[in-house]
Amino acid sequence: MPAPLRLGLAGLGTVGIGVVGIVQRHADLIAARTGRAVVITAVSALDQTKNRDADLSGYAWEADPVTLAKREDIDVFVEVIGGSEGPARDATMAAIASGKDVVTANKALLAHHGQSLAEAAEDRGRVIRFEAAVAGGIPVIKALTEGLAGNAMRRVMGVMNGTCNYILTRMESAGLPYDTVFEEARQLGYLEADPNLDVGGIDAGHKLSLLAAIAFGTRVSFDAVEMEGIGAISIDDIKLAADMGFKIKLLGVAQMTGRGLEQRMTPCLVPADSPLGQLQGGTNMVVLEGDAVGQIVMRGAGAGAGPTASAVMADVMDIARGTRLSTFGRPAASLATPIAAAAATPAPYYMRMTLLDKPGALAKIATALGDAGISIDRMRQYGHAGAHAPVLIVTHKATRDDVNHAMGRFAATGVLVGDPVAIRIEEV
Ligand code: HSE
Repeated sequence: MPAPLRLGLAGLGTVGIGVVGIVQRHADLIAARTGRAVVITAVSALDQTKNRDADLSGYAWEADPVTLAKREDIDVFVEVIGGSEGPARDATMAAIASGKDVVTANKALLAHHGQSLAEAAEDRGRVIRFEAAVAGGIPVIKALTEGLAGNAMRRVMGVMNGTCNYILTRMESAGLPYDTVFEEARQLGYLEADPNLDVGGIDAGHKLSLLAAIAFGTRVSFDAVEMEGIGAISIDDIKLAADMGFKIKLLGVAQMTGRGLEQRMTPCLVPADSPLGQLQGGTNMVVLEGDAVGQIVMRGAGAGAGPTASAVMADVMDIARGTRLSTFGRPAASLATPIAAAAATPAPYYMRMTLLDKPGALAKIATALGDAGISIDRMRQYGHAGAHAPVLIVTHKATRDDVNHAMGRFAATGVLVGDPVAIRIEEV
């Protein structure tokens, strides 16, 4: 048998301890599947005295991950520290400069520095693998780079932040407002240290930008992701959307259009009976569409020790087998610089508004829509709240610009109470 593959593991949080668990528990299985033993040589974390409920006694300890990354007795630097800057970035760069392969779960690092890190690694004949960075245990990077390698990808979509999906589905099932469920999520430990990474769509935006780079052969362009979080989603919208046959999701969509690369991570309505519509709780779902294969739907845990460590080990075991792929599925130097296209693909829209309950009010709204070139598909008025009438409209396909234009005209009708809401309905 060849010499063991030696890992240096930086980060001993939930995921790091998950990796230790698999390496120890499945040593025989891993060796049988790769033809080589995989061992941990050294680890690094801030606090050596903390009880982590794992046997780390056989591993050398480095307080500094950069020192760990440079050790001569490791072949692969496994980075599960997190963060786009600081120790994670410094240590990853040190590992590459020292001729190590890298396996990382760090979406923020790659979303911001993926191109330069991939070029540095490939210049030195090293690999960076990041299955664990996108949708936790779902093997979506492998699906794109290998299983679907013969396809021109049409569209990549998904729910890639479990915390947001937990909040939205819990709001619906319990009939609770956003603030209450946000607090629940905090107490359950679901939220990142900076909750805006979750509810602001940033974490999911990082993941979408990585998938788009592989799918469309473009440099990672996280800054071009159109992003809107879930903080403004009301329980009213969740209930009324359900009444019209839809669910609200924080949905990522990337597609190459004639105008350029469209990437958005925004609240959308999807049909309640679609796979995305049926996704409950903290689960992730990624939908891949290729010209030859059609649509693939992958569902599973997007976070947690087991699922994320499972993805880390898939990358480690590929390296143990000698499988060496470019970071983004083709040489980093050949990735095109994408033209960022604002999300202009037409779609149906859900519109909710409250009107003064008086003759001709609805007609004025219908006229404003018609003047903006938007056709109504379905409409529902929900009783009367005093002198006010809540109204829901589902439009035929329209662009966001036309919708904004119509909303501007609504304001001039004098029949609107409060601000109207418009949410895109994604065809999935
Ligand atoms: N906070 C993320 C989520 C997991 O809720 O899905 C890490 O990306």
